[in-house]
This record gives sequence, structure tokens and C-alpha cells, in this order.
Amino acid sequence: MKSQSTLQPIIIKGKKLPVPIVQGGMGVGVSLHPLARAVAQEGGMGIVSSACLDRLVSKRNNKKVNSYEAAYEEVSLAKAGGYAGINIMWALFRDYNDSVKGALDAGADAIISGAGLPLNLPSIQPPKDTALIPIVSSARALEIICKKWEKHGYRPDAVVLEGPLAGGHLGFRIDDVELESNKLENLFPPVKDMAIKYGDIPVIVAGGIYTHGDIVRYVNMGAAGVQMGTRFLATEESSASAAYKSAVVGSRDEDIVVAHRPGSPCGLPFRVIKQSPMYASALKRLRKPKCDKGYVLLKDADGKYSICGAKESNENFFCICNGLLSSGGYNTDQEEALYTVGTNASRVDRIMSVKDLMRELAGAGA
Ligand SMILES: Cc1cc2nc3c(=O)[nH]c(=O)nc-3n(C[C@H](O)[C@H](O)[C@H](O)COP(=O)(O)O)c2cc1C
Ligand code: SF4
Repeated sequence: MKSQSTLQPIIIKGKKLPVPIVQGGMGVGVSLHPLARAVAQEGGMGIVSSACLDRLVSKRNNKKVNSYEAAYEEVSLAKAGGYAGINIMWALFRDYNDSVKGALDAGADAIISGAGLPLNLPSIQPPKDTALIPIVSSARALEIICKKWEKHGYRPDAVVLEGPLAGGHLGFRIDDVELESNKLENLFPPVKDMAIKYGDIPVIVAGGIYTHGDIVRYVNMGAAGVQMGTRFLATEESSASAAYKSAVVGSRDEDIVVAHRPGSPCGLPFRVIKQSPMYASALKRLRKPKCDKGYVLLKDADGKYSICGAKESNENFFCICNGLLSSGGYNTDQEEALYTVGTNASRVDRIMSVKDLMRELAGAGA
């Protein structure tokens, strides 16, 4: 049953999304198929996260699967609900192409990709009717992507503009996170102009959207829709651990901080609840560096994936693979959890069902 919406549908790559709400990909193990499928059933876009998905699906199935198989399975299960796709972070270099291929072969409705500029996304495999949607934080980033994708004969099917209030990695330098010019409402007009220049690409805004009124405000400014993370994190269907959900409900404004030195080895600012066990330990440099997951490794001079800032020292970086896997309920007896949230987590006062949340956001009955 789709939520009755007072909002207009979006058409992306010829497919109609009845409710213009994208549930943002949330790794590690927060947006898996139960959440994505529930959102799709309500007429929104359900997005699973590819982050560390091979380990999560292998554990669930009690059988080892690789990144291609994990993406294929999770997208297929999510699509049973309706319009569904996958978020694949560019920063996950090692598994990026395999995750893209698995999602395309499963017939994902969309691949959404950020945490870096996904410059080669259209060239990995013909996307057929899967929409390719980059995430950007500026008009300049959108232009770079459009120019590069033009060389592959492709144009983004939509773009997500994510501002600095979002959860997860932030596409801004640490000193620029709080700038007035980087507020979502100020980033939007130039990105909208750039999107028009490259063929009226639909712009989906993200970061700090909380209410139906927020959605209406951006739609009236010219956005095609919104992407939301934190509100979907706090649902019954999200696969975050119970401790993570209670930390979200219990969080106050002053508990939500942008981690940086110690921060993410991906090099981008990363928003967390400061009481997250791994973050609290990282501030005291308690965890000894140990690399046993390797999802964010970069290539060395010999072309081997061997480089990560968190591997050698605990001064500037925490081990994001293990912290986030633990917050998704994996390895909890061995590693402490790291809770990432958007700034609005402090407004969350209860865990809701996706159905109730989608009805509220869509303005059903309003
Ligand atoms: C728990 C959590 C995990 C996230 N993980 C990812 C991710 O893996 N990849 C990504 O591109 N964005 C990620 N995000 C960002 C969301 O997809 C979304 O764009 C953002 O949270 C929107 O801001 P909001 O939380 O204020 O709604 C994450 C956000 C949260 C809250
Ligand atoms: S050190 Fe940790 S964060 Fe870095 S690649 Fe290894 S497991 Fe991942």
C-alpha cells in the first residue's frame, strides 16, 4: 500500500517514483533490504548500502558470498517492494566495480554514488534502465561529473545535492562545514542552474530534511525530491543495532559532533554521536591499529590495496570498517561501535514504523 501523498511524483529515467522521497543509503548494515523494501512499498525509493555487504550477507546466509553476489542479492530482495536501488560509495575502491556489476545485473532501479566523485560509473558496464545518480556538494562537482560522463556518452539521471547537516561522510573540508555559503538552501540555486544547463537533471536535496514542511519548502524552490537518512535510521525496519537506535533517541544537540582527527581514514569529516564507544576510545587513542577488513584501502605504488591511515596509527584516524560493522551488529564482541547520524538525530524521540514515517513525510491526510 503506497502512502497517499500530497507531493508530486518524480520521473527518473522514464520510471515514476510515486512519492519523491529517497531513503538514503546507510552503511554499514543500517539500510539493508528490510528497510529499503518497506520504503519502496510506501512509494518512495528504497536504497540498500553496499558498504561491507559481503560480510553482512555471508553472516546472514551462513555461506560466504563476494561483493558482486551480496549486491545482487540485497538489491533483488529490496526490489520485491517496488522502486529500489543501492548506494555505492566511491571511497570503497576495492569492491566498487564488483558492487556496481552485481547491482546492475540484479536490475537495480538506481545506483547512487558519492563519498568522492564517481567519474567512471557509466563506463563499468552498460546500465540499461538503471538510473545513475551521483551525490555532490557543489555545482562545481556536478559540472566535473557531467563533463566526464559526457565522454562516456552519459548524463546523470538525477543528482543528489547533500549539504553539511547530513549523517555519514560530509563532502566539505572540515573548516567549511559551518560556512553560511554551504547551507543547503544556499548550495541549491547554483546546483539547480548547473542541472538545468546539462539537460534539466532532477535535483534531489539531502542533509537536514526532517518534516513534510521541509520537503514542501525545497520542492517549492525547484527540487524534484529529497533524500533522507537519519529519520529512516530511527525506524523499526532499519538494521541498526538496538543500542544504536537508543543512542539516537537519547542524543541531545551537544552530543552530535563532526569527527576529524581522530576521524575517518577516508579523509572526509564524519558526523557521529560523541558517546559512540569507538569514538570515545579513539579520542583516548585506546584501540591499537589493526587492519583486518580493508574496505577503504587505497592502492600502493605496486598497485596493491594496502594503504589506510587507520592501519598504521591511531592518532588521526579510527578504524571505520570495524566501528561501523559493529554498529550494524557484526563483530560486536570484538570491536566497539561507531554511531554516525545527521544533526537532526537530537530531534528523534521515538522509533517509528516506515509506514507511519512515510505517511507523515508524504503529508498523507494533510
Ligand atoms: C547512519 C547513516 C549512514 C550513512 N551512510 C551513508 C553511506 O554509506 N553512503 C552515503 O552516500 N551516504 C550515507 N549517509 C548519508 C545519507 O544517505 C543521507 O544522504 C543523509 O543522512 C541525509 O541527511 P539526514 O540524515 O539529515 O536526512 C548515511 C547517513 C546516516 C545517518
Ligand atoms: S585499518 Fe580499519 S578502516 Fe582501514 S582499511 Fe583496515 S579495517 Fe578498514
